[in-house]
Amino acid sequence: MTDLLVNLEHAVRTAGAIAMAHFNDLKNLTVSKKNPRDFVTAADVAVEAFLKHALTEKYPQYGFWGEESGQSANQNARWVVDPIDGTHSFARGQYFWSISVALEIDQEMKVGAVYAPALDDYYCAEQDKGAWKNGQAISVSSESQLADAMVATGFACLRAYLTNNNLERFARIAQLTTGQRRFGSAAMDLCLVADGQVDAFWEQELNLYDVAAGALIAKEAGATVTDFQGNPGIFPKQILATNGKIFEQILPLM
Ligand code: IPD
Ligand code: CA
Ligand code: CA
Repeated sequence: MTDLLVNLEHAVRTAGAIAMAHFNDLKNLTVSKKNPRDFVTAADVAVEAFLKHALTEKYPQYGFWGEESGQSANQNARWVVDPIDGTHSFARGQYFWSISVALEIDQEMKVGAVYAPALDDYYCAEQDKGAWKNGQAISVSSESQLADAMVATGFACLRAYLTNNNLERFARIAQLTTGQRRFGSAAMDLCLVADGQVDAFWEQELNLYDVAAGALIAKEAGATVTDFQGNPGIFPKQILATNGKIFEQILPLM
């Protein structure tokens, strides 16, 4: 594993300890709303401040884009960070939330890490080198039948009060699959595709920091990552990640 991945894991795990200190003291957690359905907590802010300092001090050549503090310095080679993905879950004491960090250079994800501190599961990937969970190589599932598949999705579209939303698509796909899940962290959803725990994930109206690291981890684990029309790439407003084997069956349903 390259020095950068080793240094990244140290920084992200340290950020995880900061998040867990707040998670274990929720009664004193300051929670505010960015809009009626979008929360930010003192933990989001503290984790992002730590990662911004740690990563830009170690790698001054890279800029930073964090969900809470915005963009700073070099945006052609930058860390793309969601300090807590799944803040609503975090604030309610649920375990499915994560810290997501990717290094993007010339619009390509080079390394990515998604850490779920409450589960102590650390996912990472390096472009063209593979994907790992807790140090073990991971790959997508072998499920080839949509009817037998378990799928995951989210509803950022409802947070944005969109009428062009995911509800009809979810109902259509739910009737044609065996299992459906809404875990609450898009970054983790993508890692579950990478780890073969679910066979497909899709969501609309996300942001790059939600999916940058998870999409690289999924791709390096053998997933297809496209938009809802099947165009390959990372499209936060329409992301579809599958194990590849059910891609042709699910694409017409998107
Ligand atoms: C949220 C999570 C959730 C998704 C929401 C995102 P946040 O991230 O990824 O799974 O459905 O749309 O906003 O806001 O907790 O960082
Ligand atoms: Ca997020
Ligand atoms: Ca967030």
